[in-house]
Amino acid sequence: MGNYITHYVVCNLGILKPLYINKSLSNVKILVIKSSINGHQSQTNTLIEYYLNQRKLQGYKDSVIEHDVESVPLPVLTHQRFHALRGAQTDDAELLSTIQLSDQLIAELKRTDILVLGAPMYNLNVPTQLKNWFDMVVRAKHTFFYTDSYPQGLVNNVKALIVSARGGIHQGQPTDAITPYLTAALGLMGINDVHFVYAEGLDMKPEGYLAGVAKAQQQLKDYLHIDI
Ligand SMILES: Cc1cc2nc3c(=O)[nH]c(=O)nc-3n(C[C@H](O)[C@H](O)[C@H](O)COP(=O)(O)O)c2cc1C
Repeated sequence: MGNYITHYVVCNLGILKPLYINKSLSNVKILVIKSSINGHQSQTNTLIEYYLNQRKLQGYKDSVIEHDVESVPLPVLTHQRFHALRGAQTDDAELLSTIQLSDQLIAELKRTDILVLGAPMYNLNVPTQLKNWFDMVVRAKHTFFYTDSYPQGLVNNVKALIVSARGGIHQGQPTDAITPYLTAALGLMGINDVHFVYAEGLDMKPEGYLAGVAKAQQQLKDYLHIDI
């Protein structure tokens, strides 16, 4: 964690004194992708807001870009969209706008320091809406490229924080398809620093719910002090 000089202040006797600001507190770029179908009632979204608010309370000055891919859905991958995204020539306006959207989402991803993904469990996996975001950003030659062996990622220096609310308990069980899928999909793009915060047992009210939320909040607090 380094310090750097942002500007100088004039102190007594007109001497310029450097003002040191903790680098990690300043202008961290955060990209938030929310995907819950429960909007303001969403446990995952509420925990993401908790994390962002905790950062503010700690003095972080983040620049946050947020997409709620449930309220503003992304295109579903189709044969034509897939080939357009892989470079097939087209003058179709809808396909051109899909390419433009994918370009924009990828540019945001590459610029970010911390990617915060809201990934509630629906039917043992991530919401379809979140899968659609991955289908827009996992793109050959843009976020990964093929080698003779395993594909190499092209997204560098991005850390990922996954917030995943669940009604039951799944962590470490074969019923959790979210953890391996997100780890592999992010890893394909080169994002290997991936931290999961699970809020589990939330449908086991009241005790399970309260314990699950409290544990997740503590884990989010613990994640505040990562080195950017
Ligand atoms: C359509 C749907 C499917 C669900 N599937 C599961 C599931 O497979 N396993 C589980 O533990 N909970 C499941 N749940 C419960 C949610 O994971 C739980 O309510 C969680 O808090 C939802 O997060 P959210 O409020 O951020 O959307 C499901 C809920 C919905 C609405």
